[in-house]
Amino acid sequence: MKSTFFAPLLALASSAFAALNVTGSTCTVTPLETGTNGREPDDTPQILQAFKQCGQNGKVILTEGLFHIGQVMDLQNLNKVDVEIHGTLRWSSDIQYWLRSSIGVEYAQRSTAWRVGGQDISFRGFGKALFDGQGQLWYDENRSGSNQAGRPISFTLWHAKNVLIDGITWRQSQFWHTFVAYSENITMTNLDMNSTSNSQWSTVNTDGTDTWNSKDVFISNWTVTCGDDCIAVKGNSTNIQVSNVHCYESGCATIGSLGNPSNVADYVENVTFDNIKCTHSSNAAWIKTYSGSGRVRNITFSNIVAENVNQPIYVTSCIYTGQGCDTSRLPIQDVRWINITGTSRYNIASAIHCSASNPCSGFSFENVNITTLAGSTAPKYLCSNINGQASSGIPCTGTCPAGWPQQLSGDR
Ligand SMILES: *[C@@H]1O[C@H](CO)[C@@H](O)[C@H](O)[C@H]1NC(C)=O
Ligand SMILES: *[C@@H]1O[C@H](CO)[C@@H](O)[C@H](O)[C@H]1NC(C)=O
Ligand SMILES: *[C@@H]1O[C@H](CO)[C@@H](O)[C@H](O)[C@H]1NC(C)=O
Ligand SMILES: *[C@@H]1O[C@H](CO)[C@@H](O)[C@H](O)[C@H]1NC(C)=O
Ligand SMILES: *[C@@H]1O[C@H](CO)[C@@H](O)[C@H](O)[C@H]1NC(C)=O
Ligand SMILES: *[C@@H]1O[C@H](CO)[C@@H](O)[C@H](O)[C@H]1NC(C)=O
Ligand SMILES: *[C@@H]1O[C@H](CO)[C@@H](O)[C@H](O)[C@H]1NC(C)=O
Ligand SMILES: *[C@@H]1O[C@H](CO)[C@@H](O)[C@H](O)[C@H]1NC(C)=O
Ligand SMILES: *[C@@H]1O[C@H](CO)[C@@H](O)[C@H](O)[C@H]1NC(C)=O
Ligand SMILES: *[C@@H]1O[C@H](CO)[C@@H](O)[C@H](O)[C@H]1NC(C)=O
Repeated sequence: MKSTFFAPLLALASSAFAALNVTGSTCTVTPLETGTNGREPDDTPQILQAFKQCGQNGKVILTEGLFHIGQVMDLQNLNKVDVEIHGTLRWSSDIQYWLRSSIGVEYAQRSTAWRVGGQDISFRGFGKALFDGQGQLWYDENRSGSNQAGRPISFTLWHAKNVLIDGITWRQSQFWHTFVAYSENITMTNLDMNSTSNSQWSTVNTDGTDTWNSKDVFISNWTVTCGDDCIAVKGNSTNIQVSNVHCYESGCATIGSLGNPSNVADYVENVTFDNIKCTHSSNAAWIKTYSGSGRVRNITFSNIVAENVNQPIYVTSCIYTGQGCDTSRLPIQDVRWINITGTSRYNIASAIHCSASNPCSGFSFENVNITTLAGSTAPKYLCSNINGQASSGIPCTGTCPAGWPQQLSGDR
């Protein structure tokens, strides 16, 4: 029987909101077909209005079709809302607007186009939702530059708790696809991301996700092609569990970078990467810190398959700078690599350089079997400053020099 309690009503008489239908606590948004003065329409106002009316104890439905996103969306204080997205969201090409208006997210002066906070929130895309960042414009504009101020992260969870994000596809993300900050109990499943440049300029900084100041984050069933870290666990992240992820062209399974700036402590504890495939990546199961402060403890990399990866296992205490490699104040402890198989592009299976003043401890290898792509030579396992090395199971073949490079470009 059709409910008579919730008579459908149009939210506002204004034509700008003509495609928002509010029925009880459900807001349904259909895309605008035309803009004013022949310009591209902007669906942002009606989407924001939908969250305003139905973002607490409600439901927001974006129907099939193409939504033009011309403005930042800052949705704080959502509470008990289920969001269904059936169509495409395309962020506008107005680079100058985004450079000016992206919302700051504290971490390293980064910013975002869309920020979501609150609690008991779900975003479901049913494999149909498509987030199109028109990133090619950004890749071409910044010409392989990195970390451009104002270049926006596509989607940020910010002070969010009890969240499910499921079944969403990203293509050509502007910057990082997702960022999880000051959040807890976040489940992100069945996500498909691919940012691939079709020009001479590269996609740099299109990370799949970064976690920061967050706990209890569960990531599974992702396929990611990006020009940077696939899954990166940054400072003050704890209980991060990542499984069933296939990363292409990326930094794959990453802890870091941490320890920058050096006066801010970065703690990362209780992280599991399980069943991860890294195809044609720079590094696979790796930990990168500056010589700053904090701690990395209790990390498990298990069932990692490297396919044509520069260095499948990599640990450095002085990423990017090569400074303070042996004076780092950021200890790395209790890290296990179990069932690591596949191929390294050159002749390095693992390169581990820990700080001489703060050696790594509790490291172990179990069933680590990497072969070189060429198959002819046995790969090298380079080790420096690992306490308990003899009982670690790491078949060290030589020392790993300080300042060992992040990107290898040939045999060493
Ligand atoms: C609004 O949504 C309700 C419930 O989905 C539907 O019955 C009604 O036809 C819609 N009204 C308009 C004007 O689209
Ligand atoms: C890319 O962004 C970086 C960082 O903001 C900036 O220094 C550089 O000038 C930009 N490159 C171009 C070509 O705009
Ligand atoms: C964690 O979040 C999920 C939603 O993704 C929710 O179902 C679950 O109850 C939450 N767990 C706790 C302990 O609050
Ligand atoms: C990602 O997109 C590029 C360009 O369209 C394509 O060549 C590549 O196969 C895609 N990656 C995956 C894993 O589908
Ligand atoms: C992961 O994908 C598999 C295969 O499609 C599916 O059976 C499983 O339910 C998915 N897991 C989650 C957490 O959605
Ligand atoms: C991490 O937590 C510590 C201790 O709570 C705090 O001092 C530090 O500023 C935090 N680091 C970051 C990057 O927020
Ligand atoms: C290590 O982290 C895992 C989660 O990744 C957790 O289940 C386990 O209890 C932790 N172990 C210790 C000794 O802290
Ligand atoms: C890591 O896990 C252990 C064991 O469950 C727990 O005692 C510890 O508090 C966790 N660490 C953090 C920082 O939450
Ligand atoms: C390692 O691989 C073996 C053989 O496939 C499997 O039995 C074992 O459970 C794996 N270990 C972990 C920690 O996943
Ligand atoms: C290591 O892997 C290679 C290639 O898959 C295999 O031929 C070899 O038997 C494995 N070695 C061990 C010790 O498992």
